[in-house]
Amino acid sequence: MIAILCLLRLQLDSHTASRSQALLLRCPPYKRRKPCPYASGESVHPYVAPGPDDSRSPCPALNTMANHAYLPRDGRRLTGTVLTHALMECYNLSWPLAAFLSWGGVLLLGQDGLFSLHDLARHNRIEHDASIAHINTPSDEEYAPANVDSTLYNAFLADAHGGRISARDIARARVRREAEKSTHVTAVQQEIARGEVALVLQVFGGESFSVPLDVIHSWWHDERLPEGWRPTRKTTLLGTIHWSTVIRDHMNDLRDRQPHVENAFRI
Ligand code: HEM
Repeated sequence: MIAILCLLRLQLDSHTASRSQALLLRCPPYKRRKPCPYASGESVHPYVAPGPDDSRSPCPALNTMANHAYLPRDGRRLTGTVLTHALMECYNLSWPLAAFLSWGGVLLLGQDGLFSLHDLARHNRIEHDASIAHINTPSDEEYAPANVDSTLYNAFLADAHGGRISARDIARARVRREAEKSTHVTAVQQEIARGEVALVLQVFGGESFSVPLDVIHSWWHDERLPEGWRPTRKTTLLGTIHWSTVIRDHMNDLRDRQPHVENAFRI
């Protein structure tokens, strides 16, 4: 009797699995703006590590979207529109913010037609020196490395307090990186760099606008959405300007307290 029940259960499981697989196939991934009617949650956007031929950028947000098929998994054939929709769907960015980042990025990139994630690594277009967890582009290279540097990443984690990364911790990391001798960043690049981390505080920072270290590790280091994570707010252009200003004020305060930091200047 038990054997018959087990057999029935096995058949039911395999039927359900193949049915849900078939349903998933009906949903073309990254093209969908609305949730798929046949499947939901992580089953729609499972993490798959990039293969050796997949294109990736120095941006953890975009790489993560490709690893979860909010963008094409190979990171290629991108447009401003594809990016805009993916940012709205994955991170719940408002349309004006998503469109501003995507089309602003396309403009800065200065490249006609389709582009790939690796194109975004072109030095001194959007990509800049003084990234928090990526080394500066070597002087003889045209493109920045897309991989996280473990020394820089560990120095960043050491800035955390109470197991979370706050706006002040981020400001500390930015002051440190911008003060390094080999670093050259313009005022616009400093603004872009603050914008990147202002987005992180809103998307992953919850009520306190500070990000737990395990979330940082999953998303920034592993380029994978934290297990069961969902956006808790709509991230807007005004919110991004606000948090960018908060980070700038912390940076100025930190520089005032460490006048010995070389190359330090007020923004
Ligand atoms: C929710 C949206 C986004 C978030 C949270 C985000 C976050 C970040 C963060 C934190 C970094 C810095 C990595 C580091 O310092 O190690 C970064 C870098 C970068 N992002 Fe994004 N990003 C977003 C959207 C975009 C978009 C739409 C583009 C392009 C159109 C883009 C292009 C880049 C590039 C090229 C870099 C490298 C800059 C550098 O040299 O550090 N990002 N992003």
